[in-house]
Amino acid sequence: MYPLNVAVIGAQWGDEGKGKIIDLLTPAFAIVARYQGGHNAGHTVFVNGRKFVLHLIPSGILHPDVTCVIGNGVVVDPEALFKELDQLRAEGIEPEGRFFVSDRAHVILPYHRDVEVTSEAARGTRRIGTTSRGIGPSYEDKIGRRGVRVRDLGDRDPDGVLAQTIRANVEARNQAVGGAPVDWQSMHASLMAQWPRLEPLVTDVSIFLDEAGRNGRRVLYEGAQGTMLDIDHGTYPFVSASNGTIGGVCTGLGVGARSIGGVLGVIKAYTTRVGEGPLPTELKGDDGDALRESGQEYGASTGRPRRCGWYDAVVARYAVRVNGLQAFALTKLDVLDGLPEIQICTGYQCGDELVTEFPFDTERLATCVPVYETLPGWDATTAGVRRFDDLPVRAREYVARLEALTDTPVVIVSTGSDRADTIVREGSLVAEWLLAPSPSP
Ligand code: GDP
Ligand code: IMO
Ligand code: MG
Repeated sequence: MYPLNVAVIGAQWGDEGKGKIIDLLTPAFAIVARYQGGHNAGHTVFVNGRKFVLHLIPSGILHPDVTCVIGNGVVVDPEALFKELDQLRAEGIEPEGRFFVSDRAHVILPYHRDVEVTSEAARGTRRIGTTSRGIGPSYEDKIGRRGVRVRDLGDRDPDGVLAQTIRANVEARNQAVGGAPVDWQSMHASLMAQWPRLEPLVTDVSIFLDEAGRNGRRVLYEGAQGTMLDIDHGTYPFVSASNGTIGGVCTGLGVGARSIGGVLGVIKAYTTRVGEGPLPTELKGDDGDALRESGQEYGASTGRPRRCGWYDAVVARYAVRVNGLQAFALTKLDVLDGLPEIQICTGYQCGDELVTEFPFDTERLATCVPVYETLPGWDATTAGVRRFDDLPVRAREYVARLEALTDTPVVIVSTGSDRADTIVREGSLVAEWLLAPSPSP
């Protein structure tokens, strides 16, 4: 019998508020595990007015009794990791002894960033708008069977696998990318120098989670990015390079499907996206600007303005299907306060055809127009409301309509960035998740 582990997954294009929801749920879990992505993620958590932004380290780290792990499916930039660990310590959070990294996670090497910048420039108007963290090129090396894994950094042999791999990769990089050539020997030396600090953190995460499960310790699986940025299920090629959807949990941590007991989707009450690619409900001009300002929609990692638009029920239903979502946490409802009317996209009109499943062909999608259902807005504020019944009636009706359109319950409603500004609906599935005890570590 497995303990009740829960996966928390972004249902749109990232930045849905996963960090806040994970932080809220964490006290019911012993372990929080990241399974994909890297420091392209930016998960914001506010605790009593203090802001924390987690990039690579799981958002559960703010809870001192919780152990956090990074799985094999994550790509790790050691320098970014050390910087984040130092930053946490400076803020009074001690990760020592409760933060571990998979020996099999792939390393983001210093040249990966240059490769990414060069390849983005070469794409011209088809650029993806990546975060320039070297995420994509690191996964490319992984799939190309020439990647360096975390444990490889411990290779002390001057002619060993690490040296040979770095040499071959850097030589290829020097041919592909212009500018000053990279010296593989100095890169090799600087990577080896990172090992002493990395070594105490490195473990076999699959074995660690298996043992934890046998001892009844519950795990929260923390997704990064979102369903529509998934390499397989997102708006390809305008996606990130990993599987943020549910399958990534198993492949990115080395756990079995039966170890996933619950799947929660995090979704904003409207839609945002950073970078290029389709966003069918995008609002251009004043309406989009107004939503961006009231939602403070600027990237947590890169500071870039986020593109904003209405809630898209086609996307939400798609996320339910590909992840098997059992419930939603609906965030940023307060951002819609005061709007006279609110639109919900229920399909796309593509010529004569009404499309209600997210289409394969994103070029065709660009020629379609969203079909909207209009609901009245609400005057009263929802900001900081903590009981569902205290929401304005129109806000409750909006939530009910989203539930009906997705055939999925909204079990958490977030009404502000702080931990406390949250409604957990009584008697809901999430109440069960929160109440299921986790034996102390
Ligand atoms: P993540 O990447 O999914 O963790 O989301 P981000 O942290 O990148 O972006 C979500 C932003 O919305 C953060 O700045 C949060 O503090 C903020 N936020 C989360 N929930 C709410 C909410 O209910 N209301 C408001 N106003 N802000 C929220
Ligand atoms: P969190 O976990 C929003 C986007 C980038 C770009 C595309 C590919 O905070 O929700 P990459 O550098 O990953 O190769 O860029 O993916 N992107 C995100 N957008 N939230 C994120 O993470 C993102 N991580 C990557 O903007 O469009
Ligand atoms: Mg984010």
